[in-house]
Amino acid sequence: MLKDDILRLKKETKTIILAHNYVESDVQDIADFCGDSLELSRKAKDCDASNIVFCGVRFMGETAKLLSPKARVIMPAANAGCPMAEMCQADALRAWKADNPDAYIVAYVNTTAATKALVDICVTSGNAERIVTKLDTNRPIMFLPDQNLGANLNRKLGIHMMLWNGYCHTHNHISTNDIQQAKVLHPDSPVIVHLECKPEVVEIADAALSTAGMITYVRNSSAKSFIIGTEEGMIYRLKTLFPDRSFYGLPHPILCPNMKRITLPLVYDALLGKGLEIQLPEEIMQRAVLPIERMLEMS
Ligand code: 13P
Ligand code: SF4
Repeated sequence: MLKDDILRLKKETKTIILAHNYVESDVQDIADFCGDSLELSRKAKDCDASNIVFCGVRFMGETAKLLSPKARVIMPAANAGCPMAEMCQADALRAWKADNPDAYIVAYVNTTAATKALVDICVTSGNAERIVTKLDTNRPIMFLPDQNLGANLNRKLGIHMMLWNGYCHTHNHISTNDIQQAKVLHPDSPVIVHLECKPEVVEIADAALSTAGMITYVRNSSAKSFIIGTEEGMIYRLKTLFPDRSFYGLPHPILCPNMKRITLPLVYDALLGKGLEIQLPEEIMQRAVLPIERMLEMS
């Protein structure tokens, strides 16, 4: 069985497999650790593995490489990127900074390493509120690239960060109508959505959280069932952790096509050294790690 071969090869090659909560169920099952972006960053920093197979999208593998520079970080699917991360290119940000030299720049971790090299601090959806609250609001702040996450923070904290015009296709097309329809079908289930959803969707949900935040919410809730407004891999993750509760999706499937590119056969190949090894220019490595370390210190 492929699954057994993977587990054997993982041991033989002393590899740690990290997986994001959105990957396919069979990939989650063979991972050493599944988590949200913040947890995966912490894991990459703390594990002293010399080989990491990273089952997630490219910016996540880059973050692992920045925090664990001696490790060989392999992405099973070379073409698994995050379109939102590509919406803020380093050149565009460099030009923006030239026109706005006083701005403090907060980057969602969903950014390329080249963009991170130009910013002051990173955040994930799991720590953004905690970190942004502590920033000096006398300075103009630019939040990039997710305009939805930025707008949700502005609203919750009563602040006025400038917003880059990026967004996640997967979450941006969740509508208030989807939430209302799900509520009609499951009236007793709290609605939990991701912070990358539009503000009007967040407004009618019971909670807007990171994927790890959703796990904590369910753990602390007495409800027996929940409506989940995020990528459907999360529903499998929640069902695995809480087999006695029910989790419902929205009326149409919510999928991140890039996360779904990571398959068990590709994970097997990655353990054999195939796939994409993350390699970053030394100069980018040195500068891009700083905002991530600042984030980890503050979260
Ligand atoms: P989390 O950090 O909440 O897992 O989110 C990452 C992501 O890309 C969501 O689309
Ligand atoms: Fe990027 Fe959206 Fe996929 Fe998350 S769900 S990795 S933000 S495209």
